[in-house]
Amino acid sequence: VRTIRWGILGTGSISDDFCEGLKAAPGSALHAVASRDPERARGFARRHGFQHALSLGELLKTDVDVVYVATPPPQHRAHAVACLEAGKAVLVEKPFASDAAEAKEIAAAARRHGRFCMEAMWMRFTPAVRALVTELQHGKHGRVTRVEASLGFPHADPASRGSAVLDLGVYALSFVHAVLGPARAVKALGGLEDASALLQWDGAQGVVQCSLKSALSNDAVIHTERARIHLEAPLYRPESYAVQELVPLGPRPAGAEGGAKAALKSVTQRPELRRWVQRAKGLAVPRVTLPASGNGYAHEAIEVNDCLRGGALESGVMPLDASLQVMELVDAIARECA
Ligand SMILES: NC(=O)c1ccc[n+]([C@@H]2O[C@H](COP(=O)([O-])OP(=O)(O)OC[C@H]3O[C@@H](n4cnc5c(N)ncnc54)[C@H](OP(=O)(O)O)[C@@H]3O)[C@@H](O)[C@H]2O)c1
Repeated sequence: VRTIRWGILGTGSISDDFCEGLKAAPGSALHAVASRDPERARGFARRHGFQHALSLGELLKTDVDVVYVATPPPQHRAHAVACLEAGKAVLVEKPFASDAAEAKEIAAAARRHGRFCMEAMWMRFTPAVRALVTELQHGKHGRVTRVEASLGFPHADPASRGSAVLDLGVYALSFVHAVLGPARAVKALGGLEDASALLQWDGAQGVVQCSLKSALSNDAVIHTERARIHLEAPLYRPESYAVQELVPLGPRPAGAEGGAKAALKSVTQRPELRRWVQRAKGLAVPRVTLPASGNGYAHEAIEVNDCLRGGALESGVMPLDASLQVMELVDAIARECA
């Protein structure tokens, strides 16, 4: 396979975590890191085995294929656009930008220069989210009627994170977007440190909560015509979901008589009856466990590598329009919470 040469912009702790993920993405070369400070770049390069420690200007003159932009959100637009103008693909940390207008400028630059661009919304690439979203899209659980998602942690310095909706709400909004697409309407209450939003789609409702003050449940619940599905915490890197089926059970099959224990014992060799007994007795909610590999960041890096090798300009899992629509929701919520 073609090796993809990676450049990293910014030497904060998320870049360290991402590089650990990158090392688990086959065919990735850790080519160059850029920092505002040459000594920090050299330290980072030594830590992870990068060939070059550079400034942003120097990075853009190298032959890196893609730059991971891991600077603070107010810098994303300028940094991503500079990379795209230099002919580099970009993977931009979440939130994609500070607001929808800046997000649009990034997307426009990617389209103008014909370069790959994707938001590093790593949650969407975890095996659990991919499997669950695929099941929902294929109608396995019937039509989605409601979705709830939350992400919140107490932060010692909330002001440094911009706002709860920009820093953490984007995960919950991106998740409900992955399930139901762009919302028709949104209403929100809150402020910089806490926000709660109600969303409306045709035939479905959503609730999104985020906080820099409170430890929320950090999970998601999807209600469908036939099931209640609990995507277990943490929302940014989920690894399991439980599917509680709601369809009527039908009459008790022969051979599944008695109390829970007796009935289960009598049907051990008959899986279809075993399922009936488990549901009838409320014994088990089938749980799907799909661990993320390593620290969870490899999945998004693998997606970028695959897209670049295949000549795709966008990811089918995290397309630019999805990032723009999520940023529009962020803006709408931020306006109501101002
Ligand atoms: N996916 C995740 O799990 C995850 C986790 C945490 C953060 N993030 C995202 O990652 C991004 C960075 O967040 P962070 O909290 O790590 O930010 P940060 O620590 O404030 O900044 C990250 C790096 O960007 C560079 N930088 C900082 N301020 C800059 C400026 N004014 N101009 C140019 N470069 C600057 C610095 O690297 P140099 O000093 O080397 O230039 C810094 O180490 C954000 O978008 C955040 O939402 C994602």
